Amino acid sequence: MEKIALLTSKRILLGVTGSVACYKVVDLASKMTQAGAQVDVIMTEAAQQFVTPLAFRSVTGRPVYTSMWDLDDHVRHVGLGETADLFFIAPATAHTIGKLAYGLADNLLTVTALAARCPILIAPAMDGGMYEHVATQTNVNTLKARGVLFAGPGEGRMASGLSGWGRLVEPAELLAHARQVLARGGSLHGRKVVVTTGPTREPLDPVRFISNRSTGKQGVAVAQAALDAGASVTLIHGPIAEPVPMGVTALPVQTTQEMADATLTAVKDADALFMVAAVADFRPGTQSDRKIKKTDEAWGLAIGLEVTLDILSAVKEQREKTGTPRVALGFAAETHDAFEYGRQKLLRKGLNFIAVNDVMESGVGFEHDTNRVLLLSSAGVVEEIPLQSKTAVAERLVHHVAKTLNGR
Ligand code: CTP
Repeated sequence: MEKIALLTSKRILLGVTGSVACYKVVDLASKMTQAGAQVDVIMTEAAQQFVTPLAFRSVTGRPVYTSMWDLDDHVRHVGLGETADLFFIAPATAHTIGKLAYGLADNLLTVTALAARCPILIAPAMDGGMYEHVATQTNVNTLKARGVLFAGPGEGRMASGLSGWGRLVEPAELLAHARQVLARGGSLHGRKVVVTTGPTREPLDPVRFISNRSTGKQGVAVAQAALDAGASVTLIHGPIAEPVPMGVTALPVQTTQEMADATLTAVKDADALFMVAAVADFRPGTQSDRKIKKTDEAWGLAIGLEVTLDILSAVKEQREKTGTPRVALGFAAETHDAFEYGRQKLLRKGLNFIAVNDVMESGVGFEHDTNRVLLLSSAGVVEEIPLQSKTAVAERLVHHVAKTLNGR
């Protein structure tokens, strides 16, 4: 797993209580550690019935705390709670949730929760309708009103074989929740960001279309980087295989016109637009609503392509009237004379920034996990971003846009 800039050097206190879902949290602890966080685990006695401290210690490389009564550590609960960036309690049983709601402090986990000054995130896990019970619901609402955050629970099949609310959400989703909490106060905190990504598809008939090789990886990485910087993100995407980051508002589209409509609406109250999509430049002049038969050779010769709407030019026009988005960043996929074409596009489309790719270079652009980008503004070269993961490139782009928005 790749390091996550947001998690690097963060201290996460993971409180584990007694549920069969403990085994999933070993995976979460492993994911957070691999992403660069320092993960300290507190286990209750009941949790140790399901997995051993050794399992957590093996994946975190850190001591696991199980007792209030070890004499080698003076006021441990205060120390643990004070230095953490996040106290993540997962899985959280109905019993622990109840104790937290009432401020009870009978073990290291609950005592640390009372002493903690960092955000507390709770991922409930319980079976047999316990989550829906009015007692649990009251406790959950008490904690929410106090600013405690919740991840899940999910709905589905539980260990007993019953179905309902109470499933611990999957480790990847738990990680996404932790990221959202840690992102608060980032450089895009309180900002609304629109990202477009992927190809668009222009149908010829119900089974054929014109499209391009875009996979959406770079735009998805930008959306995640903006989320990690604390923004609320709308991701307008064409057909992509890439999973959409948890926490974005996803608007799936097919055609250029659909992407244009969604983008022009979304940017009305946005601070920034990252136009990463590889928009289809042409569409068939006529579309058939029935599948064209192979014998219809004349049709093949007669497809008259027409140019699609240039979305960024339409955004420019709208922006001149409304002033939103305040910052617009476009991409330029070039095969030659990248700098000059990029510069011209920046001016023509009225952009603050353009990220120029030379897609003929190896490891750059479509279908790759890496990218090399020349970032230009009207003042010239802003940064030559070297060949690296699309995630790392996205973080640089977000950094520059945030800097412009924040006037620094
Ligand atoms: N773009 C757009 N609407 C289009 C085509 C492209 O908004 N119909 C955006 C892209 O999302 C990108 C930027 O414009 O941010 C440049 O896209 P690119 O394909 O490099 O350039 P084009 O404008 O299509 O010009 P050309 O095909 O001549 O290179």
